[in-house]
Amino acid sequence: MNEFYQKDTISIKDFNKEQLEKVFTSTDKIMQLDPSDRREICKGKTLAYLFYEPSTRTRLSFDSAMASIGGNSLGIADTNSSSTQKGESLADTVRMMSIYSDVLVLRHTLDGSSRFAAEVSNKPVINAGSGTEEHPTQAIQDLFTIKKEKKKIDGLKIGIVGDLKYGRTVYSLLYGLGNYDVDVRLISPESLRIRSDSTYEIKQRLDYTESTNIEEHIDELDVLYVTRIQKERFPDEEEYLKVKGSYVVGLDLLKQMKEDSIILHPLPRIDEISTDIDKTKNAKYFEQAEYGKHTRAALLGLTLNENGF
Ligand code: NCD
Repeated sequence: MNEFYQKDTISIKDFNKEQLEKVFTSTDKIMQLDPSDRREICKGKTLAYLFYEPSTRTRLSFDSAMASIGGNSLGIADTNSSSTQKGESLADTVRMMSIYSDVLVLRHTLDGSSRFAAEVSNKPVINAGSGTEEHPTQAIQDLFTIKKEKKKIDGLKIGIVGDLKYGRTVYSLLYGLGNYDVDVRLISPESLRIRSDSTYEIKQRLDYTESTNIEEHIDELDVLYVTRIQKERFPDEEEYLKVKGSYVVGLDLLKQMKEDSIILHPLPRIDEISTDIDKTKNAKYFEQAEYGKHTRAALLGLTLNENGF
């Protein structure tokens, strides 16, 4: 039996290196299949999505991934139009959605929400973003992108810049990178350093340095992972205004980077990468978004087929 069958994907910490590599191999396989064979993988299966927060890429990439493997999706993209508005609990909503589907994809404002949903759902739950805590499928997509574009992960120097305090993609990426031998440089304003309650665990998994100055590291990096300042998660708008626009990656900065370095971003971008960068060979964030469709299709295929595909 394939070990991912009927398993929840709640945290990237639940994946060891071997399991991550299996998802990558399945992704490579899926990308090579012709569309009609690809559509056999989840033929007749249904994905239900339940999003309590805005999303463009994550929800649509799940939707399009599921369609590409022959399944269909239904769900709630805006909880204002669902019975949540009438006061229905998350537990009851999840129970209902699991009746209508084979797998449930949840995005929620609260840390721990996906873990909780997995406890009440009798179908596998995939975490599509739980508060500031984690976004495991984004990390799978990010690691896969690094592997495809740099041909390896081990041995790379990786800079992560921006909002390291509230950015959940950062936490999942760091936990995922903990499976590899990488040199990580965390770059953020002082007030947006990684949360102190997570540093112990991250230190157990990998070595990193912290800095406020991107120029100190830029010429050494193989990968620059840029993140958006998470405006909506600041308890105080004044604090957001102090750090808004702290780092803008533009052509001047790119000139200092290694010729073959790559720039990633989970998107959406606000102003932290200048649009001049988009057409350069180093910009890989749109490819990264496209890989996200394939990594999600692979994960769904593994989750829903007892013998894999
Ligand atoms: C991210 C998220 O929701 O955490 N978006 C995404 O899923 N690609 C990043 C962000 O919102 O900044």
